[in-house]
Amino acid sequence: MQKTVVNSWNEWDPLKHVIVGRADDCHIPPEEPALDAKVPEDSDMRGQWGRRPQETIDRANELLDNFASMLEKRGVRVDRPTSIDHSLPATTPDFHTESQFGCMPPRDVLLTVGSEMLEATMSYRCRWFEYLNYRPLMQQYFDEDPNFRHESAPKPRLTDADYHPDYLSEKIGDAKRLEWAAKKFFVTTEEEPLFDAADVLRFGRDLVVQHGFTTNLKGIEWLRRHFPDHRVHTVNFPGDPYPIHIDATFTPLRPGLILNNPQRRLPEDQRGMFEANGWEIVDAAQPAHNTPPPLCYSSTWLSMNVLVLDPKTVCVEKSEVYQAEQMDKLGMEVVEVELRDAYAFGGGLHCCTADVYREGGCEDYFP
Ligand code: NVA
Repeated sequence: MQKTVVNSWNEWDPLKHVIVGRADDCHIPPEEPALDAKVPEDSDMRGQWGRRPQETIDRANELLDNFASMLEKRGVRVDRPTSIDHSLPATTPDFHTESQFGCMPPRDVLLTVGSEMLEATMSYRCRWFEYLNYRPLMQQYFDEDPNFRHESAPKPRLTDADYHPDYLSEKIGDAKRLEWAAKKFFVTTEEEPLFDAADVLRFGRDLVVQHGFTTNLKGIEWLRRHFPDHRVHTVNFPGDPYPIHIDATFTPLRPGLILNNPQRRLPEDQRGMFEANGWEIVDAAQPAHNTPPPLCYSSTWLSMNVLVLDPKTVCVEKSEVYQAEQMDKLGMEVVEVELRDAYAFGGGLHCCTADVYREGGCEDYFP
């Protein structure tokens, strides 16, 4: 087996090595402040928790395994995490929660920037120990790649001071949520730096980070200080009443082209760097489904949660026919991947992967 080299600077350069998550032992975690604020008010998941039904775990694993084999056939090396026991409670001196989440999706936890893989602070208590699923791989990469930088952001305390109690009522309603989102009033406070890796998009020298439920301004400031050679940009999508994770909202496909969720458009005053450099931001196609699958945290916009294999090739979920059609029109070769029955485990094709190696270096796309 070829030795690992960790290197990935953006979301589109040719992908050669990736981590694909596993559905093993995934749990629906019990109630806790940040998670409650995120679970949609009309969701079938409200009020229930425990290990996910075995048949859904088996089906999701079948799809993830097939996805991994397809990538391998295309010459991409694929690694898989080692599941910890997610039925165990997560307890620290500051909090206790009865179970954990899972080893899906890796994109939420691991942020690869060049030769570094950074474990995010996370913002849900049930995900505090999730990095442990990836530690065997991190140790292997550390042994194999002398330039690999394995970093971990400061573990947050996640006491009640991290969460605004206003968000914890059962029925807030979308109108109120949108009003709060417009004011940038989210469930997380500014008590300490918080970020999930899936709120960050990599554009070479520039990192674009969504401020929302799972990433606060101190988290973005921490990233700015941690990556002093990067420009770190804060973005908001006020059309999103549940703003977590940027990758069903804003999807770069190649230099100069980004898909944007038409219900969550990037505000005019945040478009400057893209417009000044001739980047096109186009509305994503409509999702093919009216509702997410059962027991799923995410919206139907996982349709645009695609994995770019290189600037001309993109993996799109098989049932997302409108998204595939749009990709075709945009000049991308579409690789269909069946994944919808795994969406409930934390997301789509981008979510369920984490980059290890993409060809290419750190370019400045916004000089
Ligand atoms: N906020 C997202 C998460 C997707 C990865 C959603 O649309 O559900």
